[in-house]
Amino acid sequence: MERGLVLQPEAKDLVLIAADEDGREYHLEPHAAGAWFKMHETAKAQGIDFFVVSAFRSVDRQVEIIQRKKLSGLPLEQILAVSAIPGYSEHHTGRAIDIGTENCALLEEAFEQTESFQWLVQYAKQFGFIMSFPRNNIYGYQYEPWHWYYQG
Ligand code: DAL
Ligand code: ZN
Repeated sequence: MERGLVLQPEAKDLVLIAADEDGREYHLEPHAAGAWFKMHETAKAQGIDFFVVSAFRSVDRQVEIIQRKKLSGLPLEQILAVSAIPGYSEHHTGRAIDIGTENCALLEEAFEQTESFQWLVQYAKQFGFIMSFPRNNIYGYQYEPWHWYYQG
């Protein structure tokens, strides 16, 4: 599957991978979900604990996110440095996952200073996950050390 600034098809087949106490649910497409379960378990067994912050997102949901940011007064250019144009997010495919860890602000660059991130850099590839948006990526998105994509 192509990555980056191309239209990303919405996943139809989804698997529940986690649920918050407040009832929020997270889904991935089946292959990515299987790889996530394996990676998560392996990390945990090694004393590394991270969790899902965002997984599958519909195109409609991406529209809502951008509208909400627009209403809060952010300029579109700034919004699109962080959020993909609806239809173009890797999250639509059910193969992208945003990862967080304890004692670190969510979806912040500081994630790169955590043990979880160091672990992911070393091992995620073995499970088929790659970091989509390194510093100075060709897509023009900000650096996202928390965003990992399952390419199998
Ligand atoms: N934050 C990434 C670019 C997305 O919205 O898909
Ligand atoms: Zn993401």
